[in-house]
Amino acid sequence: MELSKKMQDALNEQIKEEMASAYIYLAMAAYCESINLPGFARWMQAQSNEELEHAMKFYGYIHERGGRVVFQALEQPQAEYDGPVDVFEKTLAHEQYITGCIHNLYGLAMEEKDYASMGLLQWYVDEQVEEESTAGEILDTLKLIGDKGQALFMMDRHLGSRE
Ligand code: FEO
Repeated sequence: MELSKKMQDALNEQIKEEMASAYIYLAMAAYCESINLPGFARWMQAQSNEELEHAMKFYGYIHERGGRVVFQALEQPQAEYDGPVDVFEKTLAHEQYITGCIHNLYGLAMEEKDYASMGLLQWYVDEQVEEESTAGEILDTLKLIGDKGQALFMMDRHLGSRE
């Protein structure tokens, strides 16, 4: 079954969202470097790489279904933040936004009886549960730490160990 034009457009839109996520997290990585939190920066770089993988999974899928990938323009990501708590508040909010996008896509696939896309999107639905949970946990820890320098230093080392 060929990919419908509507589904193809929506999947291309999601490629843009995933690429934009990669760009946003890389901007956060650069910010973390600028405030001397190299572990946070490394974590954000790994997060950015994951987003690129999310985009490429859609890229591969569209081609597999005989569709056409069309890239869209990305907006300039925010460069400055108000410390690590702000970074992770925005990370969690962004992931919640992406979850909404994925759910809308799943809804469209259901409407179109596009069972193959529903199968692919289920992977993203599950991934988003993990994404929100991870960002939420880090945010909770950061709020607990507050401005205690030593704890933040330990947290930086911990986050820096992300593969
Ligand atoms: Fe691709 Fe973080 O969602």
